[in-house]
Amino acid sequence: MKILIIMAMEAEAMPIIEELGLKKLPINEKLHSCFPRYRGEFEGKEIIISLNGKSKEYGVDRIGTEYAALNTQSAIIEFFPDLIINAGTCGAFSQDAEIADIITTDRPAVYHDHRVPIEGFDEFAKGRYPTIHRPEYFTGIDFKLGVVTTGSSLDMPKIDEQLIREGSGMAKEMECASVAAAAQLHGIDFFPIKSVTDIIDVELDNVDQFLANLSKASEKLGKTLIQVLKNIKG
Ligand code: ADE
Repeated sequence: MKILIIMAMEAEAMPIIEELGLKKLPINEKLHSCFPRYRGEFEGKEIIISLNGKSKEYGVDRIGTEYAALNTQSAIIEFFPDLIINAGTCGAFSQDAEIADIITTDRPAVYHDHRVPIEGFDEFAKGRYPTIHRPEYFTGIDFKLGVVTTGSSLDMPKIDEQLIREGSGMAKEMECASVAAAAQLHGIDFFPIKSVTDIIDVELDNVDQFLANLSKASEKLGKTLIQVLKNIKG
């Protein structure tokens, strides 16, 4: 079994890469992809972690939908994985979750900020990208199941909130639907694992919450991902 893990932020990924003992792969010059990739064996499975990489222009992680899709597509073509996991952080409503809680899904991944009010294009824009949920992968893990909803902003204007609530969104983040779309194009099983950095319906600024809780949420994400990888047999 070959498992591809797509992650946007280096700070979230490095402790996991070290714990799994993955080795950095040379950048494939032909693809000019510049997506940092790490590979190794873990309990009989081949694991590849592919990062979105750092922006040359701005020096920060290339978070967001565009690089998530590009990274996933190029990693699929390079490695032909059997399974894709998108691991990262998210915001959540106070009624659903607390900081560092783990959310995965048994529902399609959607976009909450792709608004195209033309018949046919409206549903296409929102997307309903398939995910798989195998309860046995989450044995021994405390987690919540809900809709993972993707957009291009960390804040939540009223229109986004309305659409997230209408779609029963539980985890608000910036990659999942894009990774799921690339997985669907190639017919590969996919699911997300998200850890909560910020509560999106309270007065506290969610940027401050995100920065304050990133390391706690990343630690939980890492532990969970490793347990999931142990639970996957084959
Ligand atoms: N990642 C972590 N928190 C987020 C939020 N509130 N919105 C989008 N992506 C996030």
